[in-house]
Amino acid sequence: MAKVIVALTMSLDGFIAGRSDAEHPDGEGEGVRRIFDWYFDGDTPIRPYQEAERRGVPVPPFKLAAASAKVFEELVDSGGAVVTGRRTYDISGAWGGNGPLPGLPLFVVTHRVPDQVPQGESRYTFVTDGIESAVKQAKAAAGDRWVSLMGSSVPQQCLQAGLVDEIQIHLVPVLLGTGIRLFDHLGPDGIDLELLRVVEAPGVTHLRYRVVR
Ligand SMILES: NC(=O)c1ccc[n+]([C@@H]2O[C@H](COP(=O)([O-])OP(=O)(O)OC[C@H]3O[C@@H](n4cnc5c(N)ncnc54)[C@H](OP(=O)(O)O)[C@@H]3O)[C@@H](O)[C@H]2O)c1
Repeated sequence: MAKVIVALTMSLDGFIAGRSDAEHPDGEGEGVRRIFDWYFDGDTPIRPYQEAERRGVPVPPFKLAAASAKVFEELVDSGGAVVTGRRTYDISGAWGGNGPLPGLPLFVVTHRVPDQVPQGESRYTFVTDGIESAVKQAKAAAGDRWVSLMGSSVPQQCLQAGLVDEIQIHLVPVLLGTGIRLFDHLGPDGIDLELLRVVEAPGVTHLRYRVVR
């Protein structure tokens, strides 16, 4: 049975994007460059993206420090499906039809199903009947692998609904001061976490937690 993970890059003060994210359709909004530097500051490529590139699929030129590459590649290799919100989909330009990882099925929660979707390697499903439905469909697609949640509203809704098993934070030592917060609107009761792993790497600390239920 698939499990659900929130795996995102975050500033020390809790932001996953800067204040002007939507003004940059390529996803290069202010703050984004600073929190994603660790993706490009090393010399280790990520195998599944290299393979996609060899197939002629346009992918980000990931080059990570060795310690970060190990964490990132493990996440990519274990991924079975992605659930995201409509804003992330729009800001990324629908990833040109190839999703965050070419070939991985993508589920987009939205009230507005687009008329046209770019054609690429990833199968896109637009889900209009709520977050539980999106996660259920993504789990079915993922099989025994992980469902990864993107953006901030989808992880928040899933945390509130008790649908998240683990959280992987790539914590970047920068204080953005403003932007889109990951852990807002979680309700009054709090959520307990158990620390599973800490990996220190240049420009980023990788923290993995289990959600205690
Ligand atoms: N740091 C990282 O690792 C990372 C990774 C991914 C994304 N991001 C950033 O995250 C930001 C986007 O996050 P966000 O929270 O603002 O937006 P989002 O979650 O991507 O999208 C929110 C939108 O999705 C739709 N939606 C959400 N829940 C829904 C539901 N239950 N039913 C129907 N529709 C629903 C709504 O759009 P409609 O009503 O218009 O359909 C809503 O306005 C971007 O800046 C992106 O770059 C950061």
